[in-house]
Parts: sequence; C-alpha cells; structure tokens
Amino acid sequence: MIREVLRMGDPRLLRQAQTLARCDSPELAALVRDMFDTMLHLDGAGLAAPQIGENVRVVIFGFEHNSRYPDAEPVPRTVLINPFWEPLAGGQEDAWEGCLSVPGMRGLVPRHRSIRYGGIDAQGCPIERQARGFHARVVQHECDHLDGVLYPMRMRDMSRFGFADVLFPDGLPTPQD
Ligand code: NI
Repeated sequence: MIREVLRMGDPRLLRQAQTLARCDSPELAALVRDMFDTMLHLDGAGLAAPQIGENVRVVIFGFEHNSRYPDAEPVPRTVLINPFWEPLAGGQEDAWEGCLSVPGMRGLVPRHRSIRYGGIDAQGCPIERQARGFHARVVQHECDHLDGVLYPMRMRDMSRFGFADVLFPDGLPTPQD
C-alpha cells in the first residue's frame, strides 16, 4: 500500500527511532511492502520507516535506474533492519542530495566517501557490505532518518540549498562518485 510521506516540519521526522526486537513479524513484512510501494511510486532511491510515520529502525534503498538521480550507478535493492555503519578511509565528499520528505529541493551535502555497513535483512539474515560513492551516500542518508536527521541539517553551506528546477534548469546533476 502506498503511504503518505511526511514532509520536513513534521515533528515525527525528528524522533529517535526504536530498535526492532523481532525481524520476522507479519507487521514488519507489511511495513517493508508498504515502504517499497511508496518508494517505487515516488521513484525514490531510498526510504526510512519514520518517513511514513513508523518510528522503527528500518530502511530500504536500491534501484537499477533512477530518474531522480539519472546518472547514479545501480544500487542493490536492500532492506536493512537495525542498520549500522562506520566510515572507512577516504574522508568526505560533497554531492547533491534530495529527499522524499523535502520534495522539490536539492542540497550539497558532505558524506563519507567509503563506508562499511550492515544490519538484518527482511529474511532475518545479517548483511554486511562495503560501499562507496552514491551507494554509501544513500545508506548514510537513510540511517540519518532513524536518528531524526534530515539532509539540510548536515549541510555546511546553505547557499547550496534550493529548488531543483531552479538550481538545475537543464536537468538534474550527475552524482559525484
Ligand atoms: Ni530522505
């Protein structure tokens, strides 16, 4: 079922989400289905459960091709429950981000270039991966939602925040990878 995505300004986006004790409940399976329905409907690259008002530590992401990030390399379609991540060597880089909770906007956001991340998948199995570039960025962005952090709160230069069609009248930018 396609759910309503909360928009920035809603205090429910600012909460610390709860760790899930069980990864095999029918409620969780239904939540993950709703998250994919909602993300695919809006052509998002990722979605966190708090964005549809569910205050639990569940994120999804992944795409083969994404019109909102037209030149991004594919990211494997992934469900992560109780995710964690840590930076690897390589420092941070700035790139343009959007968010389904901040519709129509883009901002230049610093993120770690390379990370190790993991969590539990929808089958209850542990996942652990390394990622870089846009893939690493999506993971950091979605995990931030679980701690009540929206990407504008990560920006260092608010002069690089604006409406996507004004910033990029000739089309959306290539993600820096
Ligand atoms: Ni977001």
